[in-house]
Amino acid sequence: MTPAPDRYAVIGHPIDHSRSPWIHARFAQQTGQRMVYTAIDAAPEDLDDRVRDFFARGGLGLNVTVPHKQAVLPLLQELSERARVAGAVNLILRADDGRLRGDNTDGSGLVRDLTHNLGVPIAAQRLLLLGAGGAARGIIAPLLALHPAELVIANRSAARAIELAQQFKPFGTVRGARYDELKRQRFALIINATSAGLLQEIPPLPVEVLDASTVCYDLAYARDTTRFVQWAREHGVARGIPGAGMLVEQAAESFLLWRGVRPDTTAVLADLLAL
Ligand code: ATR
Repeated sequence: MTPAPDRYAVIGHPIDHSRSPWIHARFAQQTGQRMVYTAIDAAPEDLDDRVRDFFARGGLGLNVTVPHKQAVLPLLQELSERARVAGAVNLILRADDGRLRGDNTDGSGLVRDLTHNLGVPIAAQRLLLLGAGGAARGIIAPLLALHPAELVIANRSAARAIELAQQFKPFGTVRGARYDELKRQRFALIINATSAGLLQEIPPLPVEVLDASTVCYDLAYARDTTRFVQWAREHGVARGIPGAGMLVEQAAESFLLWRGVRPDTTAVLADLLAL
């Protein structure tokens, strides 16, 4: 009898619209890996049970998405250096001895999309990051590693942005700010890492910050546009980019860590955008 295929999943809440099962199925097909990848909807109060149950039944790896990237930390026995620095996990691997190891491929996925797929320069540029929650934490150190002139973190609760910036000072030039302090400032790249889009809202960014040379990137995935990207385009920015590329690149890096083979993301990203 053929053994059952290796099992992987993404866990989040809500999870209905996740494209991760589709992306990983494409990667598996492309690289000839025998595996299944499903989606698990887990409300915060069920997270512990669902994670334990998945691995107890032989699951090999999980991707972790909103709102569980920080909440999952106490369930893990090991953390990669980048997950420890981020204080957030988007990936769990089960080792042969059953230990659960957390990692974070969000930052490297974003950086690969920006630099490799989109050709957006980062070095010596001024960057603005909107939001100071779990999604923001994972990408700060990887962005600072590319030596921007400065990274400003803006948040509604400015204290949270200032505290986060303080924590990442050892990695580069970074500071926290209030949204209304930004009016007279210019940024080459603005990254939306808030969860405002989930509520069909946009962050309270003063429009004066945008001009015809600004690139706006939304970590949220959408095929054509997001509320934030739409708003930025309406205000005449150079490029407004929804985060499909980051989604595919962080998935590819998860796949590499689990299966030891890096899938080719170009065709998968093109097909995702054409769905
Ligand atoms: P996530 O894991 O998605 O980052 P989170 O840790 O709850 O979720 O963080 C949500 C982030 O989105 C926070 O930075 C939050 O700002 P506050 O800390 O000021 O609450 C931000 N956010 C959510 N809704 C927003 C909105 N409508 N406008 C601006 N920022 C918003």
